[in-house]
Amino acid sequence: MSINQVPFITLNRFENGFRENFLKGVENLFEKTQFVGGPVVGELETGLSNFVKAKYSIGCANGTDAIQIALRAVGVAKNEKVLVPDMTFWATFEAVVNVGANPVTVDVNRETCHWDIETFKKAVTEFKPKAAIMVHLYGWASPDTLEIRKFAKEAGVLLIEDGAQCFGTEIAGESILGSALISTTSFYPAKVLGASGDAGAIFTNDETLNQTCRILINHGRTDHYSHGLIGWNSRIGAYESLFLKLSLEHITARLESRRNAIKYYSESLQGLPFKPVNATSNIKENGYCAVGMVDPALRPALIESLKKANIGFGTIYPGAMSLQAGAKDHMVGSIDYGNAHHISQAVLNLPCFAYITKEELEYVCQTVKNHFKK
Ligand SMILES: Cc1ncc(COP(=O)(O)O)c(C=O)c1O
Repeated sequence: MSINQVPFITLNRFENGFRENFLKGVENLFEKTQFVGGPVVGELETGLSNFVKAKYSIGCANGTDAIQIALRAVGVAKNEKVLVPDMTFWATFEAVVNVGANPVTVDVNRETCHWDIETFKKAVTEFKPKAAIMVHLYGWASPDTLEIRKFAKEAGVLLIEDGAQCFGTEIAGESILGSALISTTSFYPAKVLGASGDAGAIFTNDETLNQTCRILINHGRTDHYSHGLIGWNSRIGAYESLFLKLSLEHITARLESRRNAIKYYSESLQGLPFKPVNATSNIKENGYCAVGMVDPALRPALIESLKKANIGFGTIYPGAMSLQAGAKDHMVGSIDYGNAHHISQAVLNLPCFAYITKEELEYVCQTVKNHFKK
C-alpha cells in the first residue's frame, strides 16, 4: 500500500493485546470502585522508580502541577526569583507564577536549543535566584547538564528539572530524571510515556522532598483530616495509573522505535537547507521529537509542501516565553540574546511517534528532498 499521508503524532498504535489488557483492568477497577488511589498507583510508582532509577516517584495530576509541587517542595516562596529558559513550553513559566514566585527568562544556546553553562552562570550572578528550572526539551538535554547541576549546587540555587519531554533520556549513561535533585514529567497522552488522560510525576532521591511532595499533592494532608501544609488536589487517577503501568511494560520497544525514526531522519536528510538537529554525543535521546532547523525565510514554503503531501508537522515552539502576551506582567528580568526567538522562527518538527513505519519515514524524507529539488 503506498503512503499518501503521515500524521505529526498518532496515539493509536498499540501493541497486540494492550487494548484488551487495559479494558480488562478498567473493568476490574470499576468492579472494585477503585477510582482514586489504591494499589495500582503504588504499582505504577514502583515501576516508574525502577525505570527512571529514582528512589522516589510521586504520581500527580499533570506535568504542570508536578513543577508547581517541586517548586513548593524545595521551598520556593512568594516573590522569590526563579530562572526559566526562554525556549520551553509555557507551563514552565506558568508554574513559577502560580506558586507566587517571579520568573526570569534566560536565553538558550542557538545550537543546542538549551541552556549553556556560561549563560546560566551569568544569570545566577546577575539575578541571584532562589531556584532555577532547567528544561530538557525535544527528548534530549543541554550538553552542559552536569556542569549546570554542579554550579547550581555550589551557588545554592535549587535546581528543578522539567523533564516533561525527556522520559528515558540519558546523560553520560545515567537517567536524567533519576539523577536530578528533583525532576518532573508529564504523561500527557502525546508524551513518550503517555496516559489515557492527564497525569504527571515527580522524581527524587531525597526522603524529605518525597514526603513533602506526597503531602502537597493531597491537600497538605498529614493525616486524613489533619493538614500540615496548603497543598492541592493533584492526585493521579486510577485508570490513568493502570494505563501507564501497562504502557511501561512496552517502553523499551517504544523508545527504540522513536530513536530509530530520529536516526532515519538524520541519515536521510543530509546536505539540505533543512538540517536535522540531534542530541550531543554525551546524551542518549528518547526520540520524543524530530527537530530540524531551516532558514526562517524558507520555512513557509516547506510547510506548504508538507501540507500538500498530507504530512503533519510542528513548530515547537513558535514563540519565546519572554515574548508571550501573558509574560510581561510577571517577568522580573531576562537574559535575551535573541536565540530563543531565532529558534522559534527556524524550527520545524517532522512526524515522530512510536511504531512509525519505514514507509512513512521514507515518504516524509522524499517529500522534503523533492521540495528542495524544485
Ligand atoms: C516542557 C514541558 N513542561 C511542562 C509541560 C506540562 O505538562 P502537562 O501538560 O502534563 O501539564 C509540558 C507538556 O506539554 C512540557 O512539554
